[in-house]
Amino acid sequence: MKPRDAQWWRRAIFYEIALISFQDSNGDGKGDLPGLLRRLDYLEWLGVDAVWLTPVYRSPMLDLGYDISDFVAIDPAFGTMTDFDRLVEELHARQLRLILDFVPNHTSDQHQWFHESRSSRCNPKSDWYIWEGPGENGGPPNNWLSRFGGTAWEWEETREQYYYHSFLVQQPDLNWRNPAVREAMFEVMRFWLRRGVDGFRVDASAVLIKDDLLRDNPPNPKANDKTPPPQRLEPVFTDDRRETMDCLEEMRQVIDEFDARVLCGEVQGKTDRIGHFYGAKKPRLHLPLNFALLDTQWETLSVQANVDAYYKAIPDWAWPDWVIGGHDKKRVADKIGQPQARVLAMLLLTLKGTPFFFAGDEIGMEPVSIPPERVLDPFEKLVGGYGLNRDPERSPMRWDESENGGFTTGEPWLPMGNILERNVEQQRRDPQSLLSLYRHLIELRRREPALAEGEFLASRSHSDVLIFRRRLNDVEILVGLNLVHEPRRWEWEGSGTLLLSTHLDRKEQPLKGPTLLRADEGLVVKLDR
Ligand code: GLC
Repeated sequence: MKPRDAQWWRRAIFYEIALISFQDSNGDGKGDLPGLLRRLDYLEWLGVDAVWLTPVYRSPMLDLGYDISDFVAIDPAFGTMTDFDRLVEELHARQLRLILDFVPNHTSDQHQWFHESRSSRCNPKSDWYIWEGPGENGGPPNNWLSRFGGTAWEWEETREQYYYHSFLVQQPDLNWRNPAVREAMFEVMRFWLRRGVDGFRVDASAVLIKDDLLRDNPPNPKANDKTPPPQRLEPVFTDDRRETMDCLEEMRQVIDEFDARVLCGEVQGKTDRIGHFYGAKKPRLHLPLNFALLDTQWETLSVQANVDAYYKAIPDWAWPDWVIGGHDKKRVADKIGQPQARVLAMLLLTLKGTPFFFAGDEIGMEPVSIPPERVLDPFEKLVGGYGLNRDPERSPMRWDESENGGFTTGEPWLPMGNILERNVEQQRRDPQSLLSLYRHLIELRRREPALAEGEFLASRSHSDVLIFRRRLNDVEILVGLNLVHEPRRWEWEGSGTLLLSTHLDRKEQPLKGPTLLRADEGLVVKLDR
């Protein structure tokens, strides 16, 4: 590994891998660490700089491994600690970094801490979780809802109390008001940091602390019949509490005990609040993950406005980031269509801010249809009928045209759809594929420091063409993206060198404005000085 640059994450391109869906090595139909180790050449070839791995810890796997029964053990289905250490070593040998999912908010109900905590009201871990007596009517203490449906309180006979769970009944929330809990979780972080991981993505980082008065959440004024029941209350007293920020500051201190590590965090859909997650007097997250590109309507004026709102919402000194896919998000190629997925790739890799995409986005993976009897996602099982199923985007990676796409020799844990339609091998052979475009864009971002590090300069978008510039010292790069399926005239003055077209059929040629953009075409132009 080269000497560590403390801010490597500003220039890095992050690639999220759901381990269970990446590469199986033992025919059990589930991806694992030895499988991932076999695919490191691919990561290097693709050109990404860092991997974010979904939870690898010991888990009953009721929620993709986000229900953890031992934070410092590898789940046997994924491999061993030796495999893990090898992964760190081999990634680092290739100058790639690794960040892990860190899930501080809850454990599995199979965690030793919870076994102890639930056993009585007076054991050493009795207040490691959130315990409360019944409310006035003898039922749950208040109206808080689990995100996965129903009340967030579960009765525990032994203690004659309820415990609180933001997610599944089997995922009791830790009591982050308890200093012993915090210290134990910071030790978990140190355990992995000492093993060489380059940082974390903090799961559900906005919900760690809940209102101490247990005030009821108000009705959500935007809710209607189509709103999933758990979202019909506004999570005012359960989400994004001020004290949660103290926890993030303390986590950051742990990160800062080590050299050159990064703290990213999930901060569900809050562009106007995202700035707070960076911290002010005391630093919090380096990169609160920004989903603005996923939440926007795919239309020029909306994208222009969303990009602007995000840049405005973060402090001047803060480093931005952009996420276009993830294990909880609908596949974007399906939402905006394959031709525009190319335009989005160009946007992601030319905007100012660290790009994040999810394994499979680079080949335009679409949601795979899941027959009802094969649904695994608890979100869909418990809050069905609202289109919440996350299985379709979690379908395994398609590597080639062999049976099960080269993912497994066994039965894949989720259906894989038509692998002939879109797979890595096929797109590797095709010089104009989406995968080829990703490679070119990644390579371009690396070659042109103005794209990786330059200022973002807004331009006025017009006629369905999204326009902006990036500038570093005396280099200025202009980006024009046609967001519709018809040609559009892009008005710009001056001349430059065309660096890349999303169509991959022209580059490195002189160009003068104005330009006719073909349907679904985006261009990157280096302006003459
Ligand atoms: C986060 C994860 C999601 C999981 C939830 C509960 O939101 O991204 O996949 O279901 O936490 O752990």
